[in-house]
Amino acid sequence: MILEIINKKRLGQELSYEELDTIFNGYLKGNVPDYQMSSFLMAICINGMTDKEIFGLTKIFIDSGDVLDFSDIPGIKVDKHSTGGIGDKTTLVIAPIVASLGIPVIKMSGRGLGYTGGTIDKLESIPGYRVDLTDEEISRQVKNINIVITGQTGSLVPMDKVIYALRDVTATVSSIPLIASSIMSKKIASGADKILIDIKVGNGALLQTKEEAEKLSELMIKIGEEYKREVRTIISDMNIPLGKCVGNSLEVLEAIDVLRGVEKDNNFVNLCYELATEMVSMGLSLSKEKAYMMVKNSIEDGSAYQKFLELVKTQNGNIEGIKVSEKTYDLCAQSSGTLKAINALEVGKLSLSLGAGKENIDDTIDYTVGVKLNKLVGDSVEKGEVLATLYVNKDVSNISINDIFMID
Ligand code: URA
Repeated sequence: MILEIINKKRLGQELSYEELDTIFNGYLKGNVPDYQMSSFLMAICINGMTDKEIFGLTKIFIDSGDVLDFSDIPGIKVDKHSTGGIGDKTTLVIAPIVASLGIPVIKMSGRGLGYTGGTIDKLESIPGYRVDLTDEEISRQVKNINIVITGQTGSLVPMDKVIYALRDVTATVSSIPLIASSIMSKKIASGADKILIDIKVGNGALLQTKEEAEKLSELMIKIGEEYKREVRTIISDMNIPLGKCVGNSLEVLEAIDVLRGVEKDNNFVNLCYELATEMVSMGLSLSKEKAYMMVKNSIEDGSAYQKFLELVKTQNGNIEGIKVSEKTYDLCAQSSGTLKAINALEVGKLSLSLGAGKENIDDTIDYTVGVKLNKLVGDSVEKGEVLATLYVNKDVSNISINDIFMID
């Protein structure tokens, strides 16, 4: 039976819900071995899935675990998800903005994947910050302070955990149907009323072309319609890193600077405004113009930053304890000119090699290391000027900076 299902997908034929259920739940229960599931996932990657199959798969994912119900919490719960990028700490900024404007935020975030960091790893760089809240604690906290950012509980779409782990090591992550059902199942199971998806495109993202991003966007909106959830999408650039910092503590400190209004007007700040505006517009059913003004005010009057401090304190974190390595290493320009590009993927790889993420499953993360860009795309640069400072705890002498920075 399993062989027939794999073969059918290999031939590009449509599978029934029962066939999908047999192979996916067979895998979750340990009755289908990794090699058969890997071959099946590769057939999906190559031949795709019909909409009917994708809706069926999303249901199988959702039904594999608990579906959380926060309907007793007043207000429209708007959730946001990013397909993953380099230096993407937007959740740390936009969740407090949105919560400070009266919209309840229950954010269950993930850890880093590949070269991209995860919000939960970033938050763990705040000493004491708890990322393991129970469903009861989540409910209580959101009623008290309107915001929670915690890790995904074990019972939330367990199917995604096992399938994602296999996709990660079988080159089957970048499949549009698999990405759509993975993300949408988690958002629906975590009780969101409305969903905003930030789809990244570029060398530092899962998707490389705008056409792929548009296809994913269309699919997620359709899945949302099936489940009566409003879904909006933003397609954003991931050819250059977001903002100035990549690495856990550095990114938290950068997010704090944005919330305090110290850091303004770069690609990260602009994306935060764009996403927060969409969320406020969805949560309060307002025009984007009104929502934007509210977002801007929440930064200017300090209420978004106060909400962040309240969140960290409530989840036991000690903001004073955030540390970056004292050992640094400067990357200097080898020529003068204009900084034309900063390769996101190369910055992600560099940060990972410094220890900011896991290269192997057993590695431990060094929260204190990372990359801080001193120059951004468009800046003029003199030969010898510092382009970036690395915060390090290991030897870093052999860095090919021409792979990272393009000066012309
Ligand atoms: N993020 C997810 O949660 N799932 C995917 O499949 C890709 C990105």
